[in-house]
Amino acid sequence: MAGGRGNFASRLGFILAAAGSAIGLGNIWKFPYLAGANGGAVFLIVYLVFVFTIGISVMLAEFAIGRAGERNPVGAIKHLKGGAWIGVGYMGVVAGFAILSFYSVVGGWTIAYAVKTATGLLNLSDAKAFGGAFGAFVAAPVEPIVYHFAFMALTVAVVARGVERGIERACRVLMPMLFVIVIILCVRSLTLPGAMAGVKFFLNPDFSKLTGAMVTAALGQAFFSLSLGMGAMITLGSYLSKQTHLPGSALWVTSLDTVIAVLAGFMVLPAVFAFGFDPGAGPGLTFITLPAVFAKMPWGAGFGTLFFVLLAVAALTSAISLLEVVVAFLIDEKGVARPKAAIGAGAVIFLLGVPSSLSLGVWGDYKLFGKGFFDLMDYAASNVMLPLGGVLIAVFVGWVVTPRIMREAEREDGHLFKLAPAWHAICRYVAPVGVAWVLFSGL
Ligand code: TRP
Repeated sequence: MAGGRGNFASRLGFILAAAGSAIGLGNIWKFPYLAGANGGAVFLIVYLVFVFTIGISVMLAEFAIGRAGERNPVGAIKHLKGGAWIGVGYMGVVAGFAILSFYSVVGGWTIAYAVKTATGLLNLSDAKAFGGAFGAFVAAPVEPIVYHFAFMALTVAVVARGVERGIERACRVLMPMLFVIVIILCVRSLTLPGAMAGVKFFLNPDFSKLTGAMVTAALGQAFFSLSLGMGAMITLGSYLSKQTHLPGSALWVTSLDTVIAVLAGFMVLPAVFAFGFDPGAGPGLTFITLPAVFAKMPWGAGFGTLFFVLLAVAALTSAISLLEVVVAFLIDEKGVARPKAAIGAGAVIFLLGVPSSLSLGVWGDYKLFGKGFFDLMDYAASNVMLPLGGVLIAVFVGWVVTPRIMREAEREDGHLFKLAPAWHAICRYVAPVGVAWVLFSGL
């Protein structure tokens, strides 16, 4: 491989790394509260449509660009075409800073909740009290920032050492464990008295809830959850061997990510209704609902602690892929040494996360465009930068470097990529028209 880049030993290793990036807080924290706030089943339907048309196509486009360009997003695009297209790579680096700043704040919440569940601080008898406990925790000026620092420090520690074998090996055990515990929690949630109202909410669409804002949220979530639109998958693709079957890998990663998001819906929403919480409660929904579920389980504290530890690990593997985009750019394009790049970028991102955390408490009154800093970062990154970046990547593949990238996606041992024409049509027409329509109607 060019420049002696590391390489994934196997296709399975690559799929696990890409799935490790995709599966994270987006699935378990964000998806349930967005579905809860946006009408349940209609949100799910629109989300699935975006994921399996535009999402999976952009993922394949990013894999192919990365492998063909053999570099970070900026370098890969420079290598393939150059010119103004390099701006797409730069926007990805900026989006990496923005997303990781608030992502790490929420990552800190998961560590905090692992500690609080283990030490019995969340041993509350009344389910309603979990809302107050969460509100008081995130509004505090110091405690959540300490956990945000801890989460960011862990991310930096891994990235500074390079795409780490240890983490890949750990994920092979921990990700399946997370999957099993999510299933157990689904069963508990679905068997609570009153849970069926939540199932109905999640599966029985009410099309009067179909609004522009909801469609924008579903599109942004599709990109966010699949780690698309800012070059994370380009960066991963650049470490990929030429033998790997790209379309099959994209299908695997997309499917795994979607299964976890839907399961998270079944884990959270039935319990929300069973306990009489508000499904539109927003970013606290998972953190309010799950402790109430643990309280209703035998060995609840043990399950709860294990769950939050595994969620923190899933969040960490996603955060690594976000920081890796920034760090790979600094190494390849600016010649910065890896540890220095990781620590420097991590410090800036930590500082950028501080106002996000404070905006949920003491700085709650400062608003820009009617949003606090946390919401503003999330909105600008997820609903604007990622769809915009994603669509530019699709146009790049569909119109600009088509033959080179089509060949890249088809280069594989023995598999024929029968859907290549459909992929091409989505990149060329469906994604640009669809995303432009959503962005203009939603903003
Ligand atoms: N997809 C991750 C999640 O669902 C978050 C993430 C990691 C991400 N890398 C990304 C989002 C790149 C957008 C772009 O938690």
